[in-house]
Amino acid sequence: MVGNAVALAVSAPADVDTDLLVVPHLEGENLLQAVPELAHASGGAVEKALNTREVQGKPYELFLTPAAGGWRAGRIAIVGAGRAADFDLERLRRVATAAAAAAKQRRVARIAFLYRPSPDARFDAAAAAQTIAEGLILAAFNSDRYKSRDHVPPPPERMTVVVPPSTQETAQLHALEEAVERGRVLGESSNIARDLCNEPANVLTPSVFAERAVQISREVGLSVEILDEDEIARLRMGLLLGVARGSAEPPRVIVMTHEPPGAPASPVLGLVGKGITFDTGGISIKPAEGMDRMKDDMAGGAAVICAMRAIAILRAPIKVIGVVPAAENMPGGRAIKPGDVLTGASGKTVEVLNTDAEGRLILGDALWYAQRLGATHLVDVATLTGACVVALGKAASGLFGQPEPWVEAIRKLAARAGDRAWPMPLYDEYSEQLRSEIADMVNTGGRAAGACTAAVFLKEFANDVPWAHLDVAGTAWADEPKPWQSKGPTGVAVRTLAELALSSADWT
Ligand code: BES
Ligand code: MN
Ligand code: ZN
Repeated sequence: MVGNAVALAVSAPADVDTDLLVVPHLEGENLLQAVPELAHASGGAVEKALNTREVQGKPYELFLTPAAGGWRAGRIAIVGAGRAADFDLERLRRVATAAAAAAKQRRVARIAFLYRPSPDARFDAAAAAQTIAEGLILAAFNSDRYKSRDHVPPPPERMTVVVPPSTQETAQLHALEEAVERGRVLGESSNIARDLCNEPANVLTPSVFAERAVQISREVGLSVEILDEDEIARLRMGLLLGVARGSAEPPRVIVMTHEPPGAPASPVLGLVGKGITFDTGGISIKPAEGMDRMKDDMAGGAAVICAMRAIAILRAPIKVIGVVPAAENMPGGRAIKPGDVLTGASGKTVEVLNTDAEGRLILGDALWYAQRLGATHLVDVATLTGACVVALGKAASGLFGQPEPWVEAIRKLAARAGDRAWPMPLYDEYSEQLRSEIADMVNTGGRAAGACTAAVFLKEFANDVPWAHLDVAGTAWADEPKPWQSKGPTGVAVRTLAELALSSADWT
């Protein structure tokens, strides 16, 4: 999945040497006026399809025709981009993915996507070029690692972002090239996270997960340290050890560090990701139906690992620490039981009323550890609660945290990066639901506001450090294929976390 070729070409559409040139088309616009060369590009086929309203610009609608009239492309695709009012970077990314996925299905070897200025200069050419590159790469993702026959179409060999020479910003050629490269790295890193989520839990145990993180770190020059059981015990991470007790597989804590020369002493960004490689629920066991999906309960951890990869390649200007507590939640003979009390590394005690609320336990110790390593700002990502899926469905991740400007900065970045997240509250009432008779708190607050009680549990471990929590239980996995997203792991939060590190100037 690594090493997809995507390049920038500053070129008139007619001069692009490719098998399929994709032209996005907004609903209601006069396409032939906007891209006049199209009129004689296909022997009048585009003009006719526009006149008969076969082509209307509805989102992801696709029209393919052979190119003619001196165009170097083999074929032209007109892809619907929807209404101008809705045309933002996320729509552009989705349109690029949809077009590239359709091209892959047709086994197109070389695809090019034409950049067109946004309706009211909503975004610049560099942002668009990056986003198109991301979208193209996301479409290259395949889930075929374990298929011995039944070959799925391979990703294209060559992808090109085409910027016409008439575009003002071509003066800053280098900036455009960098933007495409940034998009390539972010897209690739998202796909690596998706690969990790697809791995079955018999392959991806906590120790194998840690080995993968080491391998990724070596490839990009990140420092990495893996804490084993002894180290974890020495640090008194009793919450993580408690969760891991029921499994034959020992836990790990993955610690990745990006520290560029000359990085300021502050901020230090701490990224924390839930790494449950399989969640049976433990003694509070889950029903069999759909339990297989719980192999992706490490999606938050994968997002942190792969965001760290992108952060290193793209040389974020600040120090970033990635912490991924990894364990398997199993109902073994030594497993924790409802009513057990655990003591975390921070000293806080937790009465475990439900062993299936394991994510918040391991994150509690990891949030503590990230602070001990010097994090001044925290973001955690976790497939934390079914209640978040009830609240927001698959349309957005739950976003919690404090203070408000920090959370709002992340919301904005996430929207641009294609990881829509919606703000959720941390009211004191939720903390009251976590009161324990015998310990500092219980680990479940009952049925009401399940995503919020989970978040206030984490807040106890974030202390007063600016902290945000993304509940990605609904967004880490797509149950239905969409034109712009295949069924399966989505790579949620990779781009948001990486962009956060890259844009530190905006939030410090
Ligand atoms: N990993 C699950 C949450 C989850 C549910 C992720 C569905 C993806 C899809 C988490 O560990 C869990 O089991 N949460 C419980 C908490 C409850 C026991 C308080 C839940 O949501 O039911
Ligand atoms: Mn669980
Ligand atoms: Zn879980």
